[in-house]
Amino acid sequence: MSREELARLGAKLDGVELVEYGIRYEPGSPADKRAERAVSAWFLLTAIFAIAFVGIFLFWPHEYQTAYSDSQLAYALYTPLIGLTLGGSLLFLGIGVVALAKKITPHEVAVQTRHDGFSAEVDRKTLSGEVFDVVDKSGLVKRRGVLKGSLVLAGGGLGLAATVGALGGFVKNPWAEGADSQLWVTPWAPLADGTKIRLTQQDGTPVRPEDLEAGSMSTVYPGVSGGAKFSDAPVMLFRVRPNQGISIRTGQEGFQFGDYYAYSKICTHVGCPVSLYEQQTGRVLCPCHQSQFDLYDGMRPVFGPASRPLPQLPIELDSEGYFVATSDFIEAVGPGFWENGKYPAWGSSPKEQS
Ligand code: FES
Repeated sequence: MSREELARLGAKLDGVELVEYGIRYEPGSPADKRAERAVSAWFLLTAIFAIAFVGIFLFWPHEYQTAYSDSQLAYALYTPLIGLTLGGSLLFLGIGVVALAKKITPHEVAVQTRHDGFSAEVDRKTLSGEVFDVVDKSGLVKRRGVLKGSLVLAGGGLGLAATVGALGGFVKNPWAEGADSQLWVTPWAPLADGTKIRLTQQDGTPVRPEDLEAGSMSTVYPGVSGGAKFSDAPVMLFRVRPNQGISIRTGQEGFQFGDYYAYSKICTHVGCPVSLYEQQTGRVLCPCHQSQFDLYDGMRPVFGPASRPLPQLPIELDSEGYFVATSDFIEAVGPGFWENGKYPAWGSSPKEQS
């Protein structure tokens, strides 16, 4: 039997009456070509949006820019563009598939009665006959090169878009800028001309020793444009009580200024802000998963999932009596990453080695 006969037989065996069944348009007719062009256009749009997504994901400048930076607009557009292009490609693929069903596959009007149970062998054969007949009649195998090409392009583009999210991290090299790569550097690093960065309040007011009472803590930010917005920048500045015994970690001697100690506020577990300071015990608590750090023991983690001490920022006073960071942190801020610990004493030469 021919495929069409099998399709009709299958319908009949299933109690389905094909009231109307046949190709939509005469192959090669103007209407047929119009339908093919319309469907192909949706698949081409799918491919274009998917490829645009991949391009934007990989190459658009996505690094954080402060509000007053020239590149702020480009940075702000990154996420919307990612969403628009991926969403657009999925939408156009959906429209294309609907258009394919409505304009290319055979026209069919069927009336079916319901039945229970599994399909018999003959049902499966007739069903596959019908499916292949639909493909035959649609001309998807023997002709319609443009449609086939656009469909392959759409599938390939979307497949690429689906995998780039997982593999993109391997394409982008986080160490491309060598010693200046983002994971090594925070806004506390002195400027190129050697200017040291002031410790400031959120509104940019520089901080002096008199601003803190003994036993208190204040959150400070780097005194650079948009300093309060950098995720790796917040620091807790402590003024401990006089004569309070404090353990200093090896290699960090002299990082404090008198009774003042500055530590990163970013938890070394998964990066929440560590904010809850208990004066009596010197414990600092991270509210996310209850890690506790001991200020009096070099910010060693003493409870919870964090496994590294909070990094200490070396501080001193500038000529006007304001706190400045002597240098950047000498170890990674926040959660660990693969290269973490590669340079055990980063303070000495991590940047030269990277
Ligand atoms: S992020 Fe601080 S304990 Fe998990």
